[in-house]
Amino acid sequence: MDSQQMIDLCKRHTLFNWAAVGTVSPLPIARAEGVWLYQPDGKRILDFNSQLMSVNIGHSHPKVVQAMKDACDDLIYAFPGAATRARAELGAKLAEMMPGDLNTFFFTLGGAEANENAVKLARQYSGRNKVLSRYRSYHGATNLTMQMTGDPRRWANEPGAPGFIRVLDPSPYDFSFGEDEASKTENNLRYLREVIEMEGSHTIAAMIIETVTGTNGVLPPPAGYLQGLRALLDEYGILLICDEVMAGWGRTGKLMAFEHGDIVPDIVSMAKGMTSSYIPLGAVAMRDPIARHFQENVFWGGLTYNSHPLSLNTALAVIRVFEEEGLVERSAAMGQVMRAHMQRLTDAHPCVQAFRSIGMFGMFDLQGADGKLIAGFNGSHPAMKDLGAFFQDEGLFTFVRWSHVMSNPPLTISADELAYGMDILDRGFSLVDEAVFG
Ligand SMILES: Cc1ncc(COP(=O)(O)O)c(C=O)c1O
Repeated sequence: MDSQQMIDLCKRHTLFNWAAVGTVSPLPIARAEGVWLYQPDGKRILDFNSQLMSVNIGHSHPKVVQAMKDACDDLIYAFPGAATRARAELGAKLAEMMPGDLNTFFFTLGGAEANENAVKLARQYSGRNKVLSRYRSYHGATNLTMQMTGDPRRWANEPGAPGFIRVLDPSPYDFSFGEDEASKTENNLRYLREVIEMEGSHTIAAMIIETVTGTNGVLPPPAGYLQGLRALLDEYGILLICDEVMAGWGRTGKLMAFEHGDIVPDIVSMAKGMTSSYIPLGAVAMRDPIARHFQENVFWGGLTYNSHPLSLNTALAVIRVFEEEGLVERSAAMGQVMRAHMQRLTDAHPCVQAFRSIGMFGMFDLQGADGKLIAGFNGSHPAMKDLGAFFQDEGLFTFVRWSHVMSNPPLTISADELAYGMDILDRGFSLVDEAVFG
């Protein structure tokens, strides 16, 4: 099938995420290997976003592909009440890898389902109902996770169920909490304490955060925030859920991003990088006291594909690759190289207002001649549209959203491939400089 046939048939019979089908121009992809995508006509495209920040070990890793074939000769599916080798091994392996007493897991099919079940666990364990989340966040597209999501994708999905309270982040775009990290943390936590007291702490089951906010800004928490938040929530008996769906699995240079803050959340949701997206899988990790509660009490949740053996065997193979290739450490080290490139481009281009990066998780903010974000909040700008088209022509896949350009390549990218991608960004930013500053 050639590219045009693919596009036409896909658009005729399928819906696309977050878009009107008539307006999308889907990227035709025939196959993928390492950090490269290949189109039906053979054109090569550098995957600078690990697709959805999720193909962390690169595409079609031969060891994982072989393990998936072997897994098909083993047990493909068993009902969720079964005990299987893959379930036994993955549960034990994750318990060994996760910090603290995060020793028990419930397997799902992806990130939204992981967050759905995280909230179920928190509510059933605590006997409370409300959930706090932050505005600069995305937690999934199911009804419940849409209500926790702060970004504008929520709007068309309202109203949802009651009980979801959204709060402001200690954000870099709004300095009202203070300009330095310590005052941002202190003032944000003071504000949060007031929200908790006004809402009635005894009604709040949990607070969910993206440990490092992803699509909404690549926002690492300011110094002291994670420890301060942990302590504040503990004071009120509110559980902390860290959504590590995007930030987890090595993306930030640690296995889990919360390790940067030296805390252990009560519940952790994960997906994406856990199988490098080779097959759908998510998980919710919980600390021992919560797990003990569900030894005695029914967990009122279930999924046909809970603990799917083919998915779990794929996760085990991906974990072996993480360990053999030292990918978490590699993300931290290569993250420094990426950061130096990002700094260089920020210094060189008037259109780049700022950048943030942690490990292989990075984002540029672009500005207009007035020094404000070029497309504002939830907006668009012709120069950003042209930039997206330039990247596509030049063979670079990454996300251009609002005023932002993402830089989230697979953790396996080489220094040369990284430089190749940054060169395309460099030339693209020159076009924006020209369009905006003349
Ligand atoms: C932080 C975060 N949480 C949850 C989700 C939802 O995951 P999924 O699309 O697998 O349901 C995403 C997806 O991008 C995410 O980035």
